[in-house]
Amino acid sequence: MYRSKISGVGHYVPDNVVTNDDLSKLIDTNDEWITERTGIKERRFAGPADSPSSMGTKAALLAIERAGIDKNDIDFIIFATLSPDYYFPGPGVLVQEQLGIKEVGALDVRNQCSGFVYGLSVADQFIKTGMYKNILLIGSELHSGGLDMTTRGRGVSVIFGDGAGAVVLSRANEGEEGILSTHMHSEGKYAEELALIAPNTGRWIPTIMNNNDPDDISYYPYMNGNFVFKHAVVRFAEVIQEALQANNKNVADIDLLIPHQANLRISQFIQKKMGLSDDQVYNNIMRYGNTTAASIPIAMSEAWEEGKLKRGDTVCLAAFGSGFTWASALLKF
Ligand code: UT7
Repeated sequence: MYRSKISGVGHYVPDNVVTNDDLSKLIDTNDEWITERTGIKERRFAGPADSPSSMGTKAALLAIERAGIDKNDIDFIIFATLSPDYYFPGPGVLVQEQLGIKEVGALDVRNQCSGFVYGLSVADQFIKTGMYKNILLIGSELHSGGLDMTTRGRGVSVIFGDGAGAVVLSRANEGEEGILSTHMHSEGKYAEELALIAPNTGRWIPTIMNNNDPDDISYYPYMNGNFVFKHAVVRFAEVIQEALQANNKNVADIDLLIPHQANLRISQFIQKKMGLSDDQVYNNIMRYGNTTAASIPIAMSEAWEEGKLKRGDTVCLAAFGSGFTWASALLKF
């Protein structure tokens, strides 16, 4: 059995910075509310040239370069997103084309905020069995095109931002530890507490348009914010503990926790609950908002650039979101 390690990290965010004040010109909200409830000060919104796949490809090229491999060494692509370029096919195949590499397999992961950690788990298994040596794992989201930018949608729309992150997962050398374990969960009874219901196979666009109902918000993301928040703080803590226990480690062994950037208050709550110091937790939601499947790899890439994520560090990744799904990974970076 082989082991896998993260050999390169990269990210791309659009240039267009949208501040809380910018949003308050469109909807009835304000910087004070958004900052106090979420910690977010600004986010990026995609420009006309950006798509989930193109942002993912840009992040991927950086991760590949930093992994010290050639793009043609990539054996497999995994793309996690809830905001794909098309309803189908998924964006993985578009990345294969945009990178201009050979016809490797491309898998799309639909686990929303947990998508990156789910994808990491899948990639880890392929490398462990020896099937692949280098896997490109991307999390990319383009939320801005699908948000309800009216006061009606303010409880959701002020939170989300666009961007992409990527890692290359490679076969570890003899003696290297790399990914130690991954843990995944779901609870589908809460599927509609955080969801985008339409279009779906029973309600395609013509039906929605024929109904022409101005109050139909089923094609905007819906979130029962308070309910999600309460579940998030419980599940994050549980799944981090699960990862520690599986490896006979404790909270003090974590050099860096990179939680999915859902809400700064959620990250701070978990930090306090688990007794982690400020140095042990990385947050960048202040600058990017919640970028769903992209948030962990963007944070990993930024933390690495800032020297806060170092080779040999024990790193815990944890996520919670729509599904509900939640997941964690413990790794030696
Ligand atoms: O990443 C996937 C997982 N997602 C999460 O983990 C998100 C979890 N939930 C949250 O982060 C929080 O629930 C939110 C940030 C979404 C909302 O914060 P909250 O403290 O739960 O606020 P709320 O929804 O209970 O709303 C409180 C008040 C309401 O007004 P009333 O009814 O008290 O008069 C809302 O209408 O704040 C109002 N409100 C706003 N006011 C200004 C809601 N959104 C806004 C807004 N600006 N953007």
